[in-house]
Amino acid sequence: MKSELADGLAQARARTLALIEPVDDADLARQHSPLMSPLAWDLAHVGYFEDLWLARRVGGLEPLADHGDLYEAFAHARDERGELPILDPRAAVRYLAAVRERTLDVLERVDLDAGDPLLADGHVYRLVIQHEHQHVETMLATLQLRAAPYPLPPPPDARSAPLAAPELLVPGGPFVLGVDGDAWAYDNERPAHAVELDPFWIDAAPVSNADFLAFVDEGGYADVRHWSEAGRSWRRDSGAEHPQFWRREGAGAWSRVRFGHREALPPEEPVQHVSWYEADAYARWAGKRLPSEAEWERAAAGEAVAGKRRFPWGDDPPDEQRANLGGARFGPAPAGSYPAGASAEGVRQLIGDVWEWTASDFRGYPGFAAFPYAEYSEVFFGDEYKVLRGPSWAAGAVVARSTFRNWDYPVRRQIFAGFRCARDA
Ligand code: AVJ
Ligand code: FE
Repeated sequence: MKSELADGLAQARARTLALIEPVDDADLARQHSPLMSPLAWDLAHVGYFEDLWLARRVGGLEPLADHGDLYEAFAHARDERGELPILDPRAAVRYLAAVRERTLDVLERVDLDAGDPLLADGHVYRLVIQHEHQHVETMLATLQLRAAPYPLPPPPDARSAPLAAPELLVPGGPFVLGVDGDAWAYDNERPAHAVELDPFWIDAAPVSNADFLAFVDEGGYADVRHWSEAGRSWRRDSGAEHPQFWRREGAGAWSRVRFGHREALPPEEPVQHVSWYEADAYARWAGKRLPSEAEWERAAAGEAVAGKRRFPWGDDPPDEQRANLGGARFGPAPAGSYPAGASAEGVRQLIGDVWEWTASDFRGYPGFAAFPYAEYSEVFFGDEYKVLRGPSWAAGAVVARSTFRNWDYPVRRQIFAGFRCARDA
């Protein structure tokens, strides 16, 4: 178990360092958007979080360095982090390495079976591993907002394969939402609890750019019938007429910017960078709706009575035949790819490619208990945030599971979020 945890930590760190390698120090130190921290803040924050949990809390050590509350996410809003006296990028990378050295020393001597729920099954290590991967995704969103071009690898080696049907029927009945006893699961995935679902149809693949373009071309943004009241005011305030990073090139041609590169809009790719309001409006225009998160999880995890699946295809870990994860490809695969990763009912790309907006507000499950800290999830519960399921191509494989919950404000578009539609059966 200890070597598995050390490997997980090393893999997360390899991703972090590979991501920043092509970015110069000035761009690591700069604030690229008021929505995002300077990349150097994310780096030092990842180290601070690891030091807090794995050296101080587990190892009983003093903080490695006195950073005050500089790297506490709640002490300073993102749009103010550009003015903070944060470590410069090189110092942040050295801090990360120094923290890691202590972490590995502590890991060597800790007794994971001492009866501490934080340590059982290496839970707190798995939280720290996921935390670093989550910040890599955050840093990718920052790099997508940055003007300078990031060197891009070839796109995913996946092609769309014909779908049996555009929508698939999921039978209703009892379903167990959430999970107990998964060492990777966050507190917000617990406790597992029974819910009753009506039968529903769900799209076999995420909504593509071509699909979304039909909505744009039909005047969907201007047609108030498709928009909720909050969506109408978002559209007025934002002036949005198409997804973020798109540009009309005239006569039916569109381009989009991906990590600083302008490209022709790929019609087959799942649409990304839409707010919840845009997703909701598209769904209404299509005569459908967004799935609830319980519906999404049922579509991904299969029937509870037959044993819930950790992934749509079963319990084997993700691989390149089944899902586009890990951020190495800098974009989603075509909608309709990965037939080998389909769910029991044939639904594709539930895991990987894009986060999917759901109809649900982010709330604690009945019987929720914050663990190990309320600031991960509990302080965000309420009707301000919408749940996203997935994860996206930018996410680490360690956050990919049918029970994982992400959340954001419905106005947010810089994340790698798209959606699929559902409707009552
Ligand atoms: C789960 C993506 C909403 O970035 O705010 C990172 C993840 N929590 N550090 C976020 C997280 C603490 C979180 N999201
Ligand atoms: Fe964090």
